[in-house]
Amino acid sequence: MIKSRLCDLVGIKYPIIQGGMGPFGTNKLCVAASNAGILGLISSSGIASDEKQPEIYDYFCRSGGADPRDDKETILRAIFRQTLDQTRDAGGIYGINVMVSAEMNEIAELIIRTMIDMRNEIPEMKSRFKVLVTSAGDPLPWAETVKQTDLVWMHVMPSVRAALRCKKAGVEVIIASGHEGGFHVSWEPVHSMVLLPAVVEAVSDEKTLVVGAGGFCDGKTVAAAFALGADGVQMGTRFLSTTESDFHQIWKEGVVEAQDRGTLVARGFVGPARWLKTPRSEEHAKNTLIKSPGVYLGIPDDYTTIDQSIIEYEIESINAVYQGDKEKSLLAAGESAQRVNDMPMVYDSVQNIMRETEGILRSMPTLLV
Ligand SMILES: Cc1cc2nc3c(=O)[nH]c(=O)nc-3n(C[C@H](O)[C@H](O)[C@H](O)COP(=O)(O)O)c2cc1C
Repeated sequence: MIKSRLCDLVGIKYPIIQGGMGPFGTNKLCVAASNAGILGLISSSGIASDEKQPEIYDYFCRSGGADPRDDKETILRAIFRQTLDQTRDAGGIYGINVMVSAEMNEIAELIIRTMIDMRNEIPEMKSRFKVLVTSAGDPLPWAETVKQTDLVWMHVMPSVRAALRCKKAGVEVIIASGHEGGFHVSWEPVHSMVLLPAVVEAVSDEKTLVVGAGGFCDGKTVAAAFALGADGVQMGTRFLSTTESDFHQIWKEGVVEAQDRGTLVARGFVGPARWLKTPRSEEHAKNTLIKSPGVYLGIPDDYTTIDQSIIEYEIESINAVYQGDKEKSLLAAGESAQRVNDMPMVYDSVQNIMRETEGILRSMPTLLV
């Protein structure tokens, strides 16, 4: 059995986090993950998709047991409540991923406030809805709010510099997000093999844990994360392609079918993103090169002033997924899609990953002479 500091801090059985994957929704996946003994995350950014992506919004609400016609706080409350109810028997631990980029500021405040209020009202929620994972922005402005709670605070970021800022803000678990990862990736690419040990060396101590994200999908990669000094891993693509995952069948199949060099980076709404390689995404990459070259030059731009036709193309392509139009779809996933070849139940997947990790770690001493 493998137990890391992440297990002790959060109260989970296995040192794995099911990554937030919005705006598509992970309400069902979060329940399956937390019932399987890992940290399940609700992905909250779907709550902001009502105007531009009504199909996503509708699914986000309904899969969480909420009525899309209600106001946003009522919807969030219903989702948090349903997750609590559906993880009770297994005593599952869960959290929420909240994107805190500038354009999400207002909605992030509503989500975090609703989470804190509900945890204060319901003691059982305090003991199981334990983790706030912020991402896609600066953690520092949120430090005062989080400090007044007993939440375990994690933040996803892509560099040593950002890791030091997390530490200054009081983040307890710093998630180092390598460029292999699915969907949004950083403007300046650094992959897990370099990023993770660099972040461990810079910030890991008795109070600060480090988790690797990007490319982790099986026992080999989890064992590697421990060798690189991590306390655990976060996986997105692996859990996207599971039976319980909320993602559309087209998307799951896309991951399973991905082959060698099966992804590319192109525009992804607010910045660079990793997509499954298809004729549609290759066309999108060509458009990105022309209309949003900063994605390839590592120069962040202002999302509100770039050529909006590229964003419209993305919205059309994401909506196409929900209309079952495979050819017009853009499907986000990580490089590990080329290594994910099945669609198991989450519990079985976790068991396989942990069994393989344990086997590898046990065999390591044979290398020593
Ligand atoms: C489809 C998709 C959507 C994602 N959406 C979010 C998100 O809303 N917030 C976030 O912090 N990370 C998001 N991620 C990143 C994951 O949480 C995770 O860090 C990443 O997938 C890890 O890399 P992997 O795909 O190689 O496992 C997303 C990833 C995927 C594949």
